[in-house]
Amino acid sequence: MQQSSFFCRPRPAGTAGRALAILWLCLLFQPAKAEEIKSPNANLTLTFALQAGGVPTYSLTYKGRAVIKPSHLGLDLQGAPALTNGFAVAAAKATAFDQTWQPVWGEVKNIRNHYNELAVTLTQAATHRTMIVHFRVFDDGLGFRYEFPRQPELAYFVVKEERTQFALAGDHKAFWLPGDYDTQEYSTTTSKLSEVRGLMKTAVTPNASQTTFSPTGLQTPLMLKSQDGLYINIHEAALVDYSCLSLELDDQNFVLESRLTPDAQGNKGSLQTPCLSPWRTVIVSDKAADILESKLVLNLNEPTKYKDTSWIKPIKYVGVWWEMITGKSTWAYTTGGNIKLDSTDYSKLKPNGTHAANTAHVKEYIDFAAQHKLDAVLVEGWNTGWEDWFGQGKDYVFDFVTPYPDFDVQELHRYAASKNVKIIMHHETSGSVRNYERHLDKAYQFMADNGYSAVKSGYVGNILPRGEHHYGQWLNNHYLYAVTKAAEYKIMVNGHEAVRPTGLSRTYPNLIGNEAARGTEYEAFGGNNVDHTTILPFTRLIGGPMDYTPGIFQTRISAYNPQNTSFVHSTLARQLALYVTMYSPLQMAADLPETYNKFLDAFQFIQDVAVDWDDTKVLEAEPGDYITIARKAKGKSSWFVGSTCDEQGRTSTISLRFLDPGKSYVATVYADAKNAHYEKNPQAYTIRKVTVTSKSKLAQYCAPGGGYAISITESAPRR
Ligand code: NOJ
Ligand code: CA
Repeated sequence: MQQSSFFCRPRPAGTAGRALAILWLCLLFQPAKAEEIKSPNANLTLTFALQAGGVPTYSLTYKGRAVIKPSHLGLDLQGAPALTNGFAVAAAKATAFDQTWQPVWGEVKNIRNHYNELAVTLTQAATHRTMIVHFRVFDDGLGFRYEFPRQPELAYFVVKEERTQFALAGDHKAFWLPGDYDTQEYSTTTSKLSEVRGLMKTAVTPNASQTTFSPTGLQTPLMLKSQDGLYINIHEAALVDYSCLSLELDDQNFVLESRLTPDAQGNKGSLQTPCLSPWRTVIVSDKAADILESKLVLNLNEPTKYKDTSWIKPIKYVGVWWEMITGKSTWAYTTGGNIKLDSTDYSKLKPNGTHAANTAHVKEYIDFAAQHKLDAVLVEGWNTGWEDWFGQGKDYVFDFVTPYPDFDVQELHRYAASKNVKIIMHHETSGSVRNYERHLDKAYQFMADNGYSAVKSGYVGNILPRGEHHYGQWLNNHYLYAVTKAAEYKIMVNGHEAVRPTGLSRTYPNLIGNEAARGTEYEAFGGNNVDHTTILPFTRLIGGPMDYTPGIFQTRISAYNPQNTSFVHSTLARQLALYVTMYSPLQMAADLPETYNKFLDAFQFIQDVAVDWDDTKVLEAEPGDYITIARKAKGKSSWFVGSTCDEQGRTSTISLRFLDPGKSYVATVYADAKNAHYEKNPQAYTIRKVTVTSKSKLAQYCAPGGGYAISITESAPRR
């Protein structure tokens, strides 16, 4: 570690008071005192310096190129002096760490957590307060966080705003979402940073929440590419008891600054020392594939807090779901209208004839799952309240334990168990968080009693209590409360509309899924951009897996609902690729069994593909253009490859050198036919089998909006 310091020059002696004043000014405005650490491979250099006025700053270089130029650190507090200036460095401690750990589930079997750390203790003489900034520099990037030790002058405080800056080195290309505090369900806009302001208006429609948008507010993970080919990803890790980070862009100077989600009073968080902020993360490389292979966000989270994790298992599932999303069926048993949950006798109400979650129909899904060796069936619309909730914003509609009269909980439990299939519970909270917390213990007990071991939770609509946002500190604490409480019942959680992940599944691995982005459902609500799945792994998935719900083979939604003119912006072959490129330990086969039964040769890939992995290799990647990934199934010798591309189409060229040398394998290639096209001819695919070895190379055509999937199994040894 290098150190350099600068001192004030002695002045000619005057009166004692004047000398003291000058000394004080010298101390206050002393120029930078720099501390520096490098990544283990020395490619990254982190520099901490105090600027004039005791302003803490940091900067980051990669192979000598500026990634983050000197950028301010600190926070503004409500009703107390800011923690942004007037600091002196009391101590700077460098340490190193190198440990390899095994995730409960994941993309690889072993994860190396290797970094150099610099902890800078800052004291603010005028207020007698102390703050420590921890920097960890890995080969793939930087993480840093604030620590607030317990101290008399900083016991309890309210954050007015965090003032962490990321001063970028230029007008980078950005893959961005508007800085909404309630939803990430936007299409990504790809533009230069200087174009964000002009594009914001179109970027927020059509599904803006009620947040007031800043014309230059952006969400994280934010993916950037510099004009000279540096890939930079900015996000956060371990978001616990704090409000979610978004970024305000100064589009003159290309400086990003933290904006935390406000609470109902407009404050950004209430903290009590000792406490920590989440980590602020900057992943960087000159290879796009390195961004996808980075484990930095996971490494910055704590090891699992659970002693026994044997009950946490990756899941492949079908669901009574897509038929409601497309408008073919309904969640509600009856049509709505001023029904009060506490006084309604549902058995006297007339069914509307389109209620999907009825016992006989759910059994069909269970049969399909059993036949194709899928683990589970998700059932939405099983419980009372849907007819009362839609569009009404009431806070009491769901109790999470009362089934509709046509949904026989006990019989379905028995039937599913007899076929070795699990049913996944659904809890739509309707954003009414207090109501959910009131019912949570009973709801989880009901699940445990009836054989459910996983729940999909949802937070649609404005949060109640009113004024709170989906990503505020209080809500973030709620999501984690729901996950840890679920663990007491050995229940896995897949949260939709909750805050986007920040690697917390390392610590709480029963958080097996999250949505928190624009999923496949939007293909039935107007469509996703063709390049959507070439971007999401660089943005949303940096924080953790997504329940993207791929596998739609009937790409014309009108086939299910004549009124719905939407279509899936993908070829069928690419739908298969997403099981590999969109990593998740929870993967849905989202289409209807009646459709899969027409394409059983292609469905074979979904049946075979693994959901847990020993190894992952990113073979090709460029955000917005294409991604090709190979993964080795957990505890097996088989590999699966997936490739997705944008509307241009391309030829993907890969080498199979990841296979074991000397072994022979059979590769089944599910690819776009020559005349395939995401809009004009999405269902044109070919399936071929070839013998391959680690020396094989493959040049595979991908149609516009297309891709391919390969399953590779070891050939049986010759006799
Ligand atoms: C939105 C979720 O993303 C979707 O999957 C779910 O079916 C609906 N909310 C209803 O809860
Ligand atoms: Ca959603």
